[in-house]
Amino acid sequence: MKELFNDYVQNLETYIMFRIKQKTVELTQELIKKDRTPIYLSMGAPVQAPPKYAIDRLSEIIKTNPSLHTYSTPKGENILIEAIQKRMKNKYGAELEKEEIFSLIGSKEGIANFIRAICNPATKEEEKDIIMIPDPGYASYGEMIKVSGGLGYSIPLTKENNYTPNIEEVYKKLEKEGYNKKKVKALIVNYPNNPLGATCKKEYLQQAVDFCKRHNIILISDAAYIDIGFEGEERPYSVLECEGAKEVAIEFFSFSKPYAMTGWRLGWACGNKELVGILGKLKSTIDSGIFKPLQIVGAEILNSAEGDAYIMQSRHNFQIKQNILTKGFKELGWDIDNLFIPTATFYLWLPIPPRYKTSEEFTNDVLKTSGVVLVPGNAFGKYGEGWFRISAVSGNEKLQEVIQRLKTDGFRFEK
Ligand SMILES: Cc1ncc(COP(=O)(O)O)c(C=O)c1O
Repeated sequence: MKELFNDYVQNLETYIMFRIKQKTVELTQELIKKDRTPIYLSMGAPVQAPPKYAIDRLSEIIKTNPSLHTYSTPKGENILIEAIQKRMKNKYGAELEKEEIFSLIGSKEGIANFIRAICNPATKEEEKDIIMIPDPGYASYGEMIKVSGGLGYSIPLTKENNYTPNIEEVYKKLEKEGYNKKKVKALIVNYPNNPLGATCKKEYLQQAVDFCKRHNIILISDAAYIDIGFEGEERPYSVLECEGAKEVAIEFFSFSKPYAMTGWRLGWACGNKELVGILGKLKSTIDSGIFKPLQIVGAEILNSAEGDAYIMQSRHNFQIKQNILTKGFKELGWDIDNLFIPTATFYLWLPIPPRYKTSEEFTNDVLKTSGVVLVPGNAFGKYGEGWFRISAVSGNEKLQEVIQRLKTDGFRFEK
């Protein structure tokens, strides 16, 4: 039957995080036997409960209001759209009309559908529409573009360019390498970044806006981690704080990371009216919106004191988790003082010990030996090879145990 699939999914693999999970499940019994029950530090999914207020309200709403079980609208209930308007204004000074906002079943869904809306599917390399993507970057971008018949062009994020490469230069390089500049449809920026945790200044986002305006390119800003900037650090910016952003940009937000609601599947897109509008038209043919009680609770939490307090506490907790890991990896020989340690997100991005040839060789060995589930750097793009990502999402004791296991099992960084 495979021959009946379209060209774009012929070679599609299951998303890396689910593959890693599957492999771990297969090894679980063996690992339990040697006292190495898997500790998952792979997915970017905080394990603590969402705000208590949200859980209480959800059960209350479901119990007391029988009329909320019908289809919502794809755009989102008015209460949610208004709450988003208020949050965008209060947090980022962005004045948005209702037509400039659209609800999402998680930001992943929104980004994937938006990419589908802009790529003209092609099979020949030279005919493909191009989307410039951060590398290392969110593992899904490349695959989303592939299934939409487009081509993802890597923008290298390196220590040397301070994880904020000169986009104009990358654009020139693309042309020098033989790609057709006219095929570039969009640029994706993602700050704070997954997997590096790197942030950027507002000026950098402004440069991205100006670049896109100059070349008539769409700016896709993925703001999934915008709420997870550490205390005392410069806060992450929304692209909609930049001048002229609404002419070219669409920005994607998520409830997943700030409120530990990854399973609720709630997010939104906002920005340029036409860009948001086409996403809406496309989605209205594909899905029928989000379960109304989830939208109501989402709306209530967005501008609430409980929600804000929860985010503040999470930032603090993630900082503590990061400290446990950096201290531990330093003891294991990693040159933590000279590595980039993020001031946002819950990720840590470290080099593999030199005795391993590839990231996968290292993460597989750690999984099989110690039951610690990590993600190999090459999952995030070609510039990620030689590195691995740790998602500091589990409890503090578990993180201590990870370090202890690695010590006991001989995983040291030795030159
Ligand atoms: C950079 C980035 N964008 C988007 C998402 C998707 O988040 P969600 O679909 O849960 O909103 C993730 C999830 O890990 C991510 O890391």
